[in-house]
Amino acid sequence: MRELFHILDGSGVTYVLLFFVVFVICFDWIKYRKPRGFPPGPPWSLPLIGDGHRVEFCRLHLQLLKFAEKYGNIFSIRLIGPQVVVLNGYKAVKEAFVDQGENFADRPTFPISADIVEGKSLGLVESNGYVWKQQRRFALFTLKNFGLGRKSLEPSIQQECRCLNEEICDQKGRSPFNPQRLIHNAVSNIICVLVFGDRFEYNNGEFQAMLKLISDTIKMENGIWVQLYNLVPGIMRHVPGPHLKMISRWRKVTGFVRNKVEEHREDYQPSSPRDYIDCFLDEMEKWKHDEAAGFDLENLAICTSDLFIAGTETTSTTLYWGLLYMINYPKIQRKVQEEIDRVIGSSRPPALQDRESMPYTNAVIHETQRCGNILPLNLGRVTTKDTKLRDYTIPKGTMVIGSLTSVLFDESVWETPHSFNPAHFLDGQGSFRKRDAFLPFSAGKRVCLGEQLAKMELFLFFTALLQRFSFAPPEGVKPTLEYTVGFTHCPKPYELCAIPR
Ligand code: HEM
Repeated sequence: MRELFHILDGSGVTYVLLFFVVFVICFDWIKYRKPRGFPPGPPWSLPLIGDGHRVEFCRLHLQLLKFAEKYGNIFSIRLIGPQVVVLNGYKAVKEAFVDQGENFADRPTFPISADIVEGKSLGLVESNGYVWKQQRRFALFTLKNFGLGRKSLEPSIQQECRCLNEEICDQKGRSPFNPQRLIHNAVSNIICVLVFGDRFEYNNGEFQAMLKLISDTIKMENGIWVQLYNLVPGIMRHVPGPHLKMISRWRKVTGFVRNKVEEHREDYQPSSPRDYIDCFLDEMEKWKHDEAAGFDLENLAICTSDLFIAGTETTSTTLYWGLLYMINYPKIQRKVQEEIDRVIGSSRPPALQDRESMPYTNAVIHETQRCGNILPLNLGRVTTKDTKLRDYTIPKGTMVIGSLTSVLFDESVWETPHSFNPAHFLDGQGSFRKRDAFLPFSAGKRVCLGEQLAKMELFLFFTALLQRFSFAPPEGVKPTLEYTVGFTHCPKPYELCAIPR
C-alpha cells in the first residue's frame, strides 16, 4: 500500500492522469471513429462529448442546416456519443426513408427511455422488429375500427369543438387569455375517447395537471442533461439534476395510464370493447402463446401512454400555432372566414366533407403545419442493415436524423420557404395543390401513426374556432412568432382576444 501512495504522490499522480487521458482518447477513437465510406462531417471531435461543443441543443435544428451547407445533404456529426447521420432536404429524406424504407425502419433505444419504463417494454414509438410490427398493425386497425379515417369519429370531434367554443365564450370577449390550456384539453379529449373511452372536463384539476406535466417534460427532452444521461447512464443515475426529474415525471404519466388500465380490467366485457384498452385486453388472450408480440399488461400501459402523449401534444401545438398565425396575419384570417361563411355558413358545424370545397382554409392549415414545424428534428431512426445511400455506406445500427426542418423549409422546393404563404398549397385557379415535400408527419415505415386523426382534428377544430370567433392580439400588443424548442417547436406563451362573430 505504501508503494501505491508513493507512486501516486508527485509525478506518480501525473502519470496516472496521463494514462487515464490517453486511455479515454484511445477508447473514444476506437469506439466512435468513422467507418470507411461514412458520410463526411466535422474533421475532429472531442473525446466523449464529440461535436457537442459545436452545437446548442435548443438551436440544433437550425445549426444542422449550416452543417449541411458545409458538408452536403448527407453528413455525419457526433452529438455527444456515437456518430449520427443527418439527412438534409426533401430529396435525401425521401431517398432514405421512402425509397429504402425497410433499411431505415428502426428506432434508437436510449438508456433514459429504457429507465423510464424500467427496461421492460418499449411501446409503439420506441420498439423495433417483430413487437413493433405487431403493435403498430394492431393500433392502426383498432383506431380505424373506432372511427379514425371514417365518419364515425366526426360527431365526437364536433361535440368537442362545441365544448371548446363554449369555454372560449366564457373568457368574456375582449379580455385577453392564453388559449393553450383549453386547446390542449380539447385535443387531448379526442385521443382520450379513443384509448380510455372517456373525455375530461376543462375544470378537471387532476387532468389539467397531467397535461401540464406532459408539456413541461417534453420541453426537457432534448436538453444537455438527457444527452449526458444517454452517454453515461451508470453515472448520471446517481447525479441529481433535471434528468432524474424527467424520469419521475414520465413515470407519473405512465402511472396515470396504468390506473386507467386497472379500472378497465375491473369492468371489461370481452363482447363489447369500448376503446383501445379493451381491445388490447381482448388481444392479450389471442396472443398468450406468443410472448414476443408484446401483448402484455406492461406493454399495454406503455403503448397507451404513447398514443395519449403523441395524440395530445402534437395536434394541440399545431392549433396553438394556427391561432398565433391568425393574429399575426389578420388578412389571411379574414379570407378563411369568408370561405367558412360561403361554404358552411353559421347555422351548422363544419364537417369533414366541407374540406373539399374549402381550398383556402385547407391551404392555411397545411401552411400552419409547414411553418409550425412542430417536430423539427423528426424522431430518430436507426439502420436495420448495412446500407448504401448515394456514395456512402452506413453500417447497421447507425442513428439517422431525417431533419424535417430541412424538408419543410427546403429552398429548392418552396417558393417562399421562410414566409407564411398559403399559396404554397394553391394552384393558379385557387384549387388546393398537394406538395410532395409537405412531410410534417415524416414518411416511410415509421410515418406518423396518427396522421389521419390529426388531419381530421386540425380541420374541424380550426374551422369551428374561426366560424365562431375572430381572434386578435390584446390591445396595444404587437404579436410575434417567438418560439421555444425542446423536443417540439412550440410558440412562446401568448395571449389573444376571442371576439364572438
Ligand atoms: C399534427 C399532428 C402530428 C404530427 C405533426 C405528428 C408527427 C409525427 C412524426 C414526425 C413522427 C415520426 C415519424 C418518423 O419517425 O418518421 C410521428 C410518429 C408517431 N405519431 Fe405522430 N404526429 C401528429 C399527431 C399524432 C397523433 C394524433 C397520434 C395519435 C394517434 C400520433 C401518434 C404517433 C405515433 C404512435 C408515432 C410513432 C409511430 C412509429 O414509430 O411507428 N401522432 N408523428
